[in-house]
Amino acid sequence: IRVAVIGGGQNCEHEVSLSSAASVASTLRTGPYEVVPLTITRDGLWLDEGRPVGLAAAVARLQTCQVVLPIVHGPRGEDGTLAALCELAGVRYVGSGVRAGAIAMDKWTTKLIANAMGIATAPGVLLTRSSAAGYAWTHPVVVKPVAAGSSRGVALVREAGELARALEEAFAYDDRVLVEDLLVGREIDIAVLGSRVSPPLEIANGGVFDYETKYGGGAKFVVPAPLEDGDRKALEDAAQTMYTALDCRGVARVDFFRTDAGWVLNEVNTMPGFTEHSQVPRLFAAAGLTYAELLDLLIADALA
Ligand code: DAL
Ligand code: MG
Repeated sequence: IRVAVIGGGQNCEHEVSLSSAASVASTLRTGPYEVVPLTITRDGLWLDEGRPVGLAAAVARLQTCQVVLPIVHGPRGEDGTLAALCELAGVRYVGSGVRAGAIAMDKWTTKLIANAMGIATAPGVLLTRSSAAGYAWTHPVVVKPVAAGSSRGVALVREAGELARALEEAFAYDDRVLVEDLLVGREIDIAVLGSRVSPPLEIANGGVFDYETKYGGGAKFVVPAPLEDGDRKALEDAAQTMYTALDCRGVARVDFFRTDAGWVLNEVNTMPGFTEHSQVPRLFAAAGLTYAELLDLLIADALA
């Protein structure tokens, strides 16, 4: 089976996507796949096996493959744009479609949908550059770009004096910024793949799971996370509910926080980190599925 693996991308998660795509490609090469590796540079140029090619040539190359794996996190990748390219090119692809990718990339819209479905999220407000001027800080908050990933542009604001800088950083990534109440507690991820729901994974680093902790080699995961049966069931149901509500396909990772006030949904990732050490492969490994088997399933689902 000839598969295209797209990595890189035009956003702040470029390196993370390169790592995810490299892991995916090397694992697929051990199976019954011929891998065509394509990379999108930070500037949005396409490389076909390292050679610069125009967009039309890149699309033509995708069309020679039976299935495309768009392993690009963040805006202009995970946000439905690569799914749209595949749809327009008439090629099958792994993962969520345009709508689910676009909605999940938008943390504000995701919050509204979750709340409407009875799933709690941290109380928050949406700010633009003009409305930010009228925002009055009163208590500790997390400031984050509405559409970004890997904790890029995210800052904790524990005192009023830190607000301006945090907003500036977040607005560097997106024109819309989310300011949420700071909820301190356990961080639990669950992956959903169609009707399969993984066991829960706990991020046991303590403190904030920021970019350095995520990718500096120090991420500590506990799978399955020690949870009461009732909590586990509630999180599994919430993860499945969000997957269905957003019309996700392939694998999505749904992230939660446990706070004094109970569980809240943090976000839904439609193209979650995919290196062998990332949460999703670890989650499914705990459910008895190897990394290669997980990729086989995703490809079979895209071809079905
Ligand atoms: N956005 C990163 C890749 C993740 O969700 O794992
Ligand atoms: Mg994310």
